[in-house]
Amino acid sequence: MAVIEVKNFKKCFGDKVVHEDVSFYVKKGECLGLVGGSGTGKSVLLRSLIGLEKPDGGTIHINDREVSNLKESDWIDLRKTVAYAFQGGALFDSMTVYQNLAYPLNEHSHLSQSEISTRITSQLNDFGLAGTESLYPSEISGGMQKRVGLARAMMLEPEVILYDEPTAGLDPYNTKRIQELILKLKAKGVTAILVTHDMPTAFAVCDKFAFLKDKVIKEQGTTEQLKNQPNSLIHQFVEGNIL
Ligand SMILES: Nc1ncnc2c1ncn2[C@@H]1O[C@H](COP(=O)(O)OP(=O)(O)OP(=O)(O)O)[C@@H](O)[C@H]1O
Ligand SMILES: [Mg+2]
Repeated sequence: MAVIEVKNFKKCFGDKVVHEDVSFYVKKGECLGLVGGSGTGKSVLLRSLIGLEKPDGGTIHINDREVSNLKESDWIDLRKTVAYAFQGGALFDSMTVYQNLAYPLNEHSHLSQSEISTRITSQLNDFGLAGTESLYPSEISGGMQKRVGLARAMMLEPEVILYDEPTAGLDPYNTKRIQELILKLKAKGVTAILVTHDMPTAFAVCDKFAFLKDKVIKEQGTTEQLKNQPNSLIHQFVEGNIL
């Protein structure tokens, strides 16, 4: 069953058409790699999947529910199951790392403060962030901010995770840790879309790919197919031969 299904999606900002006609689906437990040049609308597409942008055409189904015209109150509900790991981290600057991670649990769960504390400690360990609890985002490195953002997105144990360049700016060691975490969540059945230019990570975790170009998906294929097609557009893109 498709957990995410996008059909004939269209999105404009004023006169500017970002997506003309985009269709794809992601089945339960699958990870789709969404690749494409800067400005091709990858983040806009992810934002549309959690209701932060309204489509100008087409449909978006999540778990068989058409979501493009949901009321804001229904989105708040849906965002408990669909997490978005923002490209820039999007941390609350006036909150400590601990408070940032506690936020979704305080808002959307009924856990006690001691249960929240236990979960945060384990999450910080998993993300190599132990000891940063009382620091503010401005007091940690960019790579650490990124990991705090990811850790926060995963706090509610979502069914779907949308990763927007989760390894950009990370060193190889932390990139590998994030890869492992994505794989771990995948093994639990989490459905995902991964936007990235980091192809080793993409090939390690994605089952299939979609390549955005000229306002449409120009190419789709399984990871196996793409590995065996050196002339594919995605290969050309990864090699830096086309934009
Ligand atoms: N709120 C907005 N208002 C107007 N234009 C926007 C808005 N958000 C995005 N855009 C435009 O939509 C296009 C796609 O932006 P988007 O951020 O989705 O690109 P991207 O593929 O994620 O790029 P990158 O790889 O650099 O992150 C860009 O031209 C951008 O300027
Ligand atoms: Mg982006």
